[in-house]
Amino acid sequence: MLWSDLKKPILVLAPMDDVTDAAFRQVVAECAPPDIYFTEFVSVDGLSSPGREALKSKLVFGSLDKPLVAQLWGLQPANYESIARELASSGNYAGIDINMGCPAKAVIKNGACSALINNRDLAGRIIQATKKGANGQVPVSVKCRIGFNAIDLSWIEFLLGQGIAALTVHARTTKEQSKVANHWEVFRPIVQLRDEIAPTTAIIANGDVLTRQQALDVASEHGVDGVMIGRGVFRDPYVFSAKSPWPSMAKAEKIGLYARHINLFLEKWGNNKNPATLKRFAKVYVNGFSGASELRSDLMTLNSAQNLLERLDEAVR
Ligand SMILES: Cc1cc2nc3c(=O)[nH]c(=O)nc-3n(C[C@H](O)[C@H](O)[C@H](O)COP(=O)(O)O)c2cc1C
Repeated sequence: MLWSDLKKPILVLAPMDDVTDAAFRQVVAECAPPDIYFTEFVSVDGLSSPGREALKSKLVFGSLDKPLVAQLWGLQPANYESIARELASSGNYAGIDINMGCPAKAVIKNGACSALINNRDLAGRIIQATKKGANGQVPVSVKCRIGFNAIDLSWIEFLLGQGIAALTVHARTTKEQSKVANHWEVFRPIVQLRDEIAPTTAIIANGDVLTRQQALDVASEHGVDGVMIGRGVFRDPYVFSAKSPWPSMAKAEKIGLYARHINLFLEKWGNNKNPATLKRFAKVYVNGFSGASELRSDLMTLNSAQNLLERLDEAVR
Protein backbone atom coordinates (compact mmCIF):
# COMPACT_ATOMS: atom_id res chain seq x y z
CA MET A 1 0.00 0.00 0.00
CA LEU A 2 1.22 3.50 -0.78
CA TRP A 3 2.76 5.49 2.07
CA SER A 4 3.32 2.57 4.44
CA ASP A 5 5.45 0.51 2.01
CA LEU A 6 7.80 3.29 0.92
CA LYS A 7 11.29 3.79 2.23
CA LYS A 8 11.56 6.86 4.46
CA PRO A 9 11.91 9.73 4.17
CA ILE A 10 9.28 9.77 1.43
CA LEU A 11 9.90 12.61 -1.04
CA VAL A 12 6.77 13.97 -2.67
CA LEU A 13 6.18 16.40 -5.54
CA ALA A 14 3.53 18.88 -4.33
CA PRO A 15 0.28 19.41 -6.19
CA MET A 16 0.33 22.83 -7.85
CA ASP A 17 -2.68 23.93 -9.84
CA ASP A 18 -1.88 24.83 -13.47
CA VAL A 19 1.73 23.73 -12.92
CA THR A 20 2.07 20.05 -12.01
CA ASP A 21 -0.01 18.72 -14.89
CA ALA A 22 0.86 15.44 -16.61
CA ALA A 23 3.38 17.14 -18.94
CA PHE A 24 5.38 18.79 -16.16
CA ARG A 25 5.21 15.70 -13.97
CA GLN A 26 6.79 13.76 -16.82
CA VAL A 27 9.56 16.37 -17.10
CA VAL A 28 10.26 15.96 -13.38
CA ALA A 29 10.13 12.17 -13.74
CA GLU A 30 12.66 12.27 -16.57
CA CYS A 31 14.97 14.62 -14.62
CA ALA A 32 14.86 13.00 -11.19
CA PRO A 33 11.75 11.27 -9.86
CA PRO A 34 10.22 11.84 -6.40
CA ASP A 35 8.68 8.87 -4.55
CA ILE A 36 5.11 10.13 -5.04
CA TYR A 37 3.36 12.52 -7.46
CA PHE A 38 0.05 14.34 -6.88
CA THR A 39 -2.38 15.56 -9.54
CA GLU A 40 -3.51 19.19 -9.43
CA PHE A 41 -6.57 19.54 -7.19
CA VAL A 42 -9.79 18.69 -8.96
CA SER A 43 -13.31 19.41 -7.76
CA VAL A 44 -15.52 16.42 -6.97
CA ASP A 45 -18.54 18.67 -7.33
CA GLY A 46 -17.32 19.77 -10.79
CA LEU A 47 -16.59 16.17 -11.79
CA SER A 48 -20.13 15.30 -10.75
CA SER A 49 -21.64 18.08 -12.90
CA PRO A 50 -22.11 18.75 -16.63
CA GLY A 51 -18.72 20.55 -16.47
CA ARG A 52 -16.99 17.22 -15.95
CA GLU A 53 -15.27 16.98 -19.36
CA ALA A 54 -13.42 20.27 -18.89
CA LEU A 55 -11.96 19.06 -15.59
CA LYS A 56 -10.83 15.67 -16.75
CA SER A 57 -7.52 16.99 -18.12
CA LYS A 58 -6.44 17.41 -14.50
CA LEU A 59 -6.65 13.65 -14.06
CA VAL A 60 -4.56 12.77 -17.13
CA PHE A 61 -1.36 10.88 -16.37
CA GLY A 62 1.51 9.21 -18.18
CA SER A 63 3.61 6.11 -17.74
CA LEU A 64 6.34 7.74 -15.64
CA ASP A 65 4.48 9.90 -13.11
CA LYS A 66 3.74 7.01 -10.78
CA PRO A 67 2.76 6.36 -8.07
CA LEU A 68 0.18 9.09 -8.61
CA VAL A 69 -2.22 10.37 -5.96
CA ALA A 70 -5.40 12.07 -7.20
CA GLN A 71 -6.13 15.17 -5.18
CA LEU A 72 -9.77 16.11 -4.64
CA TRP A 73 -11.59 19.10 -3.23
CA GLY A 74 -15.21 20.14 -2.95
CA LEU A 75 -18.11 20.30 -0.54
CA GLN A 76 -20.47 17.39 -1.10
CA PRO A 77 -19.61 14.15 0.73
CA ALA A 78 -21.75 12.14 -1.71
CA ASN A 79 -19.65 13.44 -4.62
CA TYR A 80 -16.42 12.57 -2.79
CA GLU A 81 -17.75 9.06 -2.32
CA SER A 82 -18.72 8.49 -5.95
CA ILE A 83 -15.57 10.08 -7.42
CA ALA A 84 -13.36 8.17 -4.95
CA ARG A 85 -15.10 4.96 -5.98
CA GLU A 86 -14.54 5.72 -9.66
CA LEU A 87 -10.85 6.63 -9.22
CA ALA A 88 -10.04 3.78 -6.84
CA SER A 89 -11.61 1.14 -9.07
CA SER A 90 -9.92 2.54 -12.22
CA GLY A 91 -6.60 1.13 -11.00
CA ASN A 92 -4.86 4.26 -12.29
CA TYR A 93 -4.21 6.05 -9.02
CA ALA A 94 -2.19 4.83 -6.07
CA GLY A 95 -4.04 7.00 -3.59
CA ILE A 96 -6.63 9.71 -3.06
CA ASP A 97 -5.84 12.92 -1.21
CA ILE A 98 -8.28 15.50 0.10
CA ASN A 99 -7.25 19.16 -0.14
CA MET A 100 -8.03 20.79 3.20
CA GLY A 101 -5.24 23.32 2.86
CA CYS A 102 -5.94 25.68 -0.05
CA PRO A 103 -6.31 29.26 1.30
CA ALA A 104 -7.55 30.89 -1.96
CA LYS A 105 -10.43 33.29 -1.28
CA ALA A 106 -12.52 31.96 -4.18
CA VAL A 107 -12.42 28.52 -2.57
CA ILE A 108 -12.73 29.29 1.13
CA LYS A 109 -15.59 31.76 0.75
CA ASN A 110 -17.76 28.72 -0.01
CA GLY A 111 -16.45 26.81 2.99
CA ALA A 112 -14.15 24.45 1.04
CA CYS A 113 -10.51 23.39 1.52
CA SER A 114 -8.85 25.20 4.41
CA ALA A 115 -12.21 26.68 5.51
CA LEU A 116 -13.07 23.14 6.62
CA ILE A 117 -10.91 23.85 9.68
CA ASN A 118 -13.97 25.72 10.92
CA ASN A 119 -16.47 23.02 9.97
CA ARG A 120 -15.15 19.80 11.44
CA ASP A 121 -18.47 18.03 11.14
CA LEU A 122 -18.33 18.42 7.35
CA ALA A 123 -14.56 17.71 7.24
CA GLY A 124 -15.16 14.40 9.02
CA ARG A 125 -18.07 13.46 6.76
CA ILE A 126 -15.96 14.24 3.68
CA ILE A 127 -13.10 12.02 4.85
CA GLN A 128 -15.40 9.15 5.80
CA ALA A 129 -17.31 9.40 2.49
CA THR A 130 -14.02 9.35 0.56
CA LYS A 131 -12.83 6.32 2.52
CA LYS A 132 -16.13 4.59 1.82
CA GLY A 133 -15.76 5.23 -1.92
CA ALA A 134 -12.09 4.18 -1.95
CA ASN A 135 -13.27 0.96 -0.32
CA GLY A 136 -9.82 -0.09 0.89
CA GLN A 137 -8.56 -0.29 -2.72
CA VAL A 138 -6.36 2.81 -2.33
CA PRO A 139 -5.32 4.76 0.76
CA VAL A 140 -6.94 8.10 1.58
CA SER A 141 -4.79 10.98 2.81
CA VAL A 142 -5.31 14.66 3.67
CA LYS A 143 -3.24 17.80 3.01
CA CYS A 144 -3.83 20.60 5.48
CA ARG A 145 -2.60 23.79 7.14
CA ILE A 146 -2.04 24.30 10.86
CA GLY A 147 -4.95 26.60 11.62
CA PHE A 148 -7.15 29.31 10.14
CA ASN A 149 -6.30 32.59 11.88
CA ALA A 150 -3.86 31.12 14.42
CA ILE A 151 -2.00 27.87 14.95
CA ASP A 152 -4.50 25.30 16.20
CA LEU A 153 -3.19 21.78 16.70
CA SER A 154 -6.66 20.57 17.68
CA TRP A 155 -7.30 20.56 13.91
CA ILE A 156 -4.36 18.20 13.38
CA GLU A 157 -5.57 16.07 16.27
CA PHE A 158 -9.01 15.93 14.71
CA LEU A 159 -7.61 14.85 11.32
CA LEU A 160 -5.39 12.22 12.93
CA GLY A 161 -8.51 10.76 14.51
CA GLN A 162 -10.05 10.08 11.09
CA GLY A 163 -8.06 6.96 10.17
CA ILE A 164 -6.08 8.37 7.23
CA ALA A 165 -2.96 6.88 5.63
CA ALA A 166 -1.00 10.13 5.50
CA LEU A 167 -1.30 13.74 6.58
CA THR A 168 0.68 16.37 4.69
CA VAL A 169 1.08 19.46 6.82
CA HIS A 170 1.93 22.82 5.27
CA ALA A 171 3.08 24.57 8.42
CA ARG A 172 1.33 27.90 7.97
CA THR A 173 -2.17 29.12 8.80
CA THR A 174 -4.75 30.03 6.17
CA LYS A 175 -4.40 33.69 7.06
CA GLU A 176 -0.63 33.55 6.59
CA GLN A 177 -0.98 32.23 3.00
CA SER A 178 2.74 31.90 2.11
CA LYS A 179 3.79 35.24 3.54
CA VAL A 180 5.62 34.20 6.70
CA ALA A 181 8.27 31.57 7.39
CA ASN A 182 7.08 27.99 7.82
CA HIS A 183 6.43 27.10 11.49
CA TRP A 184 8.83 24.17 11.75
CA GLU A 185 8.40 24.02 15.52
CA VAL A 186 4.96 22.40 15.11
CA PHE A 187 6.28 19.14 13.70
CA ARG A 188 7.65 17.59 16.92
CA PRO A 189 4.27 18.03 18.71
CA ILE A 190 2.46 16.79 15.58
CA VAL A 191 4.60 13.66 15.41
CA GLN A 192 3.96 13.10 19.11
CA LEU A 193 0.20 13.43 18.57
CA ARG A 194 0.45 11.00 15.68
CA ASP A 195 2.34 8.47 17.83
CA GLU A 196 -0.44 8.68 20.43
CA ILE A 197 -3.53 8.76 18.21
CA ALA A 198 -2.67 7.30 14.82
CA PRO A 199 0.65 5.43 14.78
CA THR A 200 0.17 4.23 11.19
CA THR A 201 -0.50 7.68 9.66
CA ALA A 202 2.55 9.04 7.80
CA ILE A 203 3.36 12.69 8.55
CA ILE A 204 4.65 14.59 5.53
CA ALA A 205 6.13 18.03 6.15
CA ASN A 206 5.65 20.80 3.62
CA GLY A 207 6.70 24.42 3.20
CA ASP A 208 9.77 26.25 1.88
CA VAL A 209 11.93 23.19 1.22
CA LEU A 210 14.10 24.00 -1.78
CA THR A 211 16.55 21.12 -2.13
CA ARG A 212 16.71 17.37 -1.66
CA GLN A 213 19.36 17.77 1.03
CA GLN A 214 17.15 20.22 2.90
CA ALA A 215 14.31 17.67 2.70
CA LEU A 216 16.50 14.94 4.18
CA ASP A 217 17.68 17.31 6.94
CA VAL A 218 14.12 18.39 7.74
CA ALA A 219 12.98 14.76 7.98
CA SER A 220 15.68 13.79 10.43
CA GLU A 221 15.53 16.99 12.44
CA HIS A 222 11.76 16.95 12.92
CA GLY A 223 11.12 13.19 12.89
CA VAL A 224 8.61 13.27 10.03
CA ASP A 225 8.08 10.40 7.57
CA GLY A 226 8.45 12.47 4.45
CA VAL A 227 8.76 15.88 2.88
CA MET A 228 6.76 17.47 0.07
CA ILE A 229 8.46 19.94 -2.26
CA GLY A 230 6.50 22.45 -4.34
CA ARG A 231 8.08 25.68 -5.48
CA GLY A 232 11.59 24.24 -5.14
CA VAL A 233 10.98 22.54 -8.48
CA PHE A 234 10.84 25.97 -10.17
CA ARG A 235 14.38 26.69 -9.05
CA ASP A 236 15.60 23.28 -10.14
CA PRO A 237 13.59 20.72 -12.13
CA TYR A 238 16.15 18.15 -10.89
CA VAL A 239 15.31 19.02 -7.27
CA PHE A 240 14.82 15.34 -6.37
CA SER A 241 18.26 14.39 -7.66
CA ALA A 242 21.06 13.55 -5.23
CA LYS A 243 23.38 15.55 -7.48
CA SER A 244 21.51 17.99 -9.64
CA PRO A 245 23.18 19.00 -12.91
CA TRP A 246 20.91 22.07 -13.20
CA PRO A 247 23.24 24.76 -11.79
CA SER A 248 25.88 23.96 -14.39
CA MET A 249 23.59 23.27 -17.34
CA ALA A 250 24.20 25.33 -20.47
CA LYS A 251 21.66 27.54 -22.26
CA ALA A 252 21.01 24.94 -24.99
CA GLU A 253 20.32 22.20 -22.43
CA LYS A 254 17.91 24.36 -20.44
CA ILE A 255 16.09 25.42 -23.59
CA GLY A 256 16.10 21.80 -24.73
CA LEU A 257 14.30 20.82 -21.53
CA TYR A 258 11.73 23.60 -22.06
CA ALA A 259 11.13 22.33 -25.60
CA ARG A 260 10.73 18.80 -24.24
CA HIS A 261 8.10 20.11 -21.80
CA ILE A 262 6.20 21.89 -24.58
CA ASN A 263 6.30 18.79 -26.79
CA LEU A 264 4.92 16.67 -23.92
CA PHE A 265 2.16 19.24 -23.48
CA LEU A 266 1.30 18.99 -27.19
CA GLU A 267 1.44 15.19 -27.08
CA LYS A 268 -1.01 15.05 -24.18
CA TRP A 269 -3.46 17.79 -25.11
CA GLY A 270 -2.69 19.05 -28.60
CA ASN A 271 -4.40 22.40 -28.92
CA ASN A 272 -7.11 21.56 -26.40
CA LYS A 273 -5.42 23.15 -23.41
CA ASN A 274 -4.54 26.80 -22.90
CA PRO A 275 -0.80 27.25 -23.68
CA ALA A 276 -0.66 30.24 -21.29
CA THR A 277 0.37 27.81 -18.55
CA LEU A 278 3.48 26.95 -20.61
CA LYS A 279 4.61 30.57 -20.59
CA ARG A 280 4.70 30.55 -16.80
CA PHE A 281 7.59 28.10 -17.11
CA ALA A 282 9.79 30.58 -18.98
CA LYS A 283 11.07 31.76 -15.58
CA VAL A 284 12.13 28.20 -14.77
CA TYR A 285 14.00 27.22 -17.93
CA VAL A 286 15.01 30.55 -19.47
CA ASN A 287 17.18 31.63 -16.61
CA GLY A 288 20.82 31.92 -15.66
CA PHE A 289 22.35 32.60 -19.08
CA SER A 290 23.08 35.72 -21.06
CA GLY A 291 20.10 37.03 -23.02
CA ALA A 292 17.64 35.08 -20.83
CA SER A 293 15.63 38.11 -19.82
CA GLU A 294 15.15 39.34 -23.44
CA LEU A 295 14.18 35.85 -24.55
CA ARG A 296 11.63 35.59 -21.74
CA SER A 297 10.07 38.91 -22.80
CA ASP A 298 9.83 37.65 -26.38
CA LEU A 299 8.19 34.41 -25.29
CA MET A 300 5.55 36.35 -23.33
CA THR A 301 4.26 37.86 -26.59
CA LEU A 302 3.58 34.46 -28.21
CA ASN A 303 0.25 32.69 -28.10
CA SER A 304 0.68 29.08 -29.12
CA ALA A 305 2.83 26.14 -28.09
CA GLN A 306 4.09 25.92 -31.68
CA ASN A 307 5.23 29.56 -31.64
CA LEU A 308 7.02 29.01 -28.35
CA LEU A 309 8.86 26.03 -29.82
CA GLU A 310 9.89 28.01 -32.91
CA ARG A 311 11.23 30.90 -30.84
CA LEU A 312 13.19 28.54 -28.58
CA ASP A 313 14.64 26.79 -31.61
CA GLU A 314 15.73 30.14 -33.02
CA ALA A 315 17.40 31.02 -29.69
CA VAL A 316 19.74 28.04 -29.85
CA ARG A 317 20.43 28.05 -33.59
C1 LIG B 1 0.95 27.72 -8.17
C2 LIG B 1 0.57 26.88 -6.98
C3 LIG B 1 -0.52 26.04 -7.07
C4 LIG B 1 -0.88 25.23 -5.98
N1 LIG B 1 -1.92 24.33 -6.11
C5 LIG B 1 -2.17 23.46 -5.10
C6 LIG B 1 -3.12 22.40 -5.26
O1 LIG B 1 -3.73 22.21 -6.32
N2 LIG B 1 -3.34 21.57 -4.20
C7 LIG B 1 -2.66 21.72 -2.99
O2 LIG B 1 -2.88 20.94 -2.06
N3 LIG B 1 -1.75 22.70 -2.83
C8 LIG B 1 -1.48 23.55 -3.86
N4 LIG B 1 -0.49 24.48 -3.69
C9 LIG B 1 0.30 24.51 -2.44
C10 LIG B 1 1.54 23.61 -2.57
O3 LIG B 1 1.18 22.25 -2.78
C11 LIG B 1 2.42 23.70 -1.31
O4 LIG B 1 1.64 23.30 -0.21
C12 LIG B 1 2.93 25.12 -1.07
O5 LIG B 1 3.43 25.70 -2.27
C13 LIG B 1 4.05 25.12 -0.01
O6 LIG B 1 5.10 24.27 -0.40
P1 LIG B 1 6.45 24.85 -1.09
O7 LIG B 1 6.99 25.92 -0.19
O8 LIG B 1 7.37 23.64 -1.18
O9 LIG B 1 6.06 25.40 -2.42
C14 LIG B 1 -0.14 25.31 -4.76
C15 LIG B 1 0.95 26.17 -4.68
C16 LIG B 1 1.33 26.94 -5.77
C17 LIG B 1 2.52 27.84 -5.64
